[in-house]
Amino acid sequence: MKNLNIGLVGYGFMGRTHSNAYRRVSNFFNLPYTPVLKAVCGRDEAKTKAFAEQWGYESTESDWKKLIARKDIDAIDICTPNDSHAEIAIAAAKAGKMVLCEKPLGRTVAEAAKMVKAIEAAGVPNTVWYNYRRIPAVTLAKQLIDSGKLGRIFHYRAVFLQDWTINADLPQGGAGLWRLDAKSAGSGVTGDLLSHCIDTAMWLNGGISDVTAMTETFVKERKHTLTGKVEKVGIDDACAFIGRFDNGSLCTFESTRYARGHKALYTFEINGEHASIKWDLHDLHRLEYFDYRDESITRGWRSIHVTDGDQPYMKNWWVPGLQIGYEHSFVHQVADFLQALGDGKPCRPTFRDALESDKVCEAVLKSAATGKWQKTKVDWKPDAKAVAKKK
Ligand SMILES: NC(=O)c1ccc[n+]([C@@H]2O[C@H](COP(=O)([O-])OP(=O)(O)OC[C@H]3O[C@@H](n4cnc5c(N)ncnc54)[C@H](O)[C@@H]3O)[C@@H](O)[C@H]2O)c1
Repeated sequence: MKNLNIGLVGYGFMGRTHSNAYRRVSNFFNLPYTPVLKAVCGRDEAKTKAFAEQWGYESTESDWKKLIARKDIDAIDICTPNDSHAEIAIAAAKAGKMVLCEKPLGRTVAEAAKMVKAIEAAGVPNTVWYNYRRIPAVTLAKQLIDSGKLGRIFHYRAVFLQDWTINADLPQGGAGLWRLDAKSAGSGVTGDLLSHCIDTAMWLNGGISDVTAMTETFVKERKHTLTGKVEKVGIDDACAFIGRFDNGSLCTFESTRYARGHKALYTFEINGEHASIKWDLHDLHRLEYFDYRDESITRGWRSIHVTDGDQPYMKNWWVPGLQIGYEHSFVHQVADFLQALGDGKPCRPTFRDALESDKVCEAVLKSAATGKWQKTKVDWKPDAKAVAKKK
């Protein structure tokens, strides 16, 4: 087993989930590479050192350019707010580093397209952390759809609901609140939450071709943490859109941070000719399944407890009946990345795949702004061009 030296940028929420994944993956998966926590980079030296100590990083950096310049780093993992993804990823790719980047890829399609160009020109292995694909119940949904169990798909319905920005006194910008600042985040719930729903949807059911949307910003002005001034809020607090997939099925998506009582309610439901499936992040180890072909007297929704060894990823964990959680989706993404590296294959979603989700987000925002249907120009192929090379 070879070592793969990781250089992590950003030690916030995602910095912790990724570090946890790197630390645990080799305990549970037999892989051609083992990640080594070589260095973590953050702007606050004391906090970065404390993080390094807590998570077992060998060293720290306070400037990501220095991290990228280091010869002992193989892969750069970008866990910073959205406004720095492009600059770091492009510099890392030019330096020949592998890049694992948090979602959304860019704040705009133009930004994301530059990232794809740089990564493909460099020919470096890459992936984007749309981790919900790797929750075993969601992966099982993909297997059921691909096996034809649902038949022709008519409807795809997804929501992602939160309630943490209802307070009008909450400031925008800076640590912890960059999501409310359009300059840092690019957009509100569309890029932050719906991007996840869109990635899962296209992975499960193919490209989304046309959308029409509405957005709302309920709190129009908030004090900016960095300037101290009350400034216009540029993000979408809520977004709802409908659309069509390339295969003719219809979709409805809704996301908001104003749904009192909901912390992170990500659900989707898919209705096919023969069967339907439902999934709920709050009960993430279960997949609900209804099959019309069942005997009529016992036909009904089944709640599949996705914990058996023949279900996705589960043979690597405990014994049947014992579930795993949110953090394991990141462990699975690292495992898949390291396995793909050994096999010389791309680890989906690649930068190119994530560009296609950014295209849907941008079309959604454009539709909300213009009040018109938009073509997404998504080029979604199951084997979309992606780059992977053996180390
Ligand atoms: N995959 C998911 O489910 C998921 C969930 C949450 C966030 N995200 C994405 O992850 C990224 C980070 O989000 P988060 O919630 O971890 O944010 P966060 O605010 O918790 O952490 C961001 C970190 O980046 C650091 N940082 C900012 N600029 C930096 C710079 N120039 N150099 C070094 N460090 C810098 C901050 O100090 C902080 O440690 C975002 O792109 C977000 O969209 C993805």
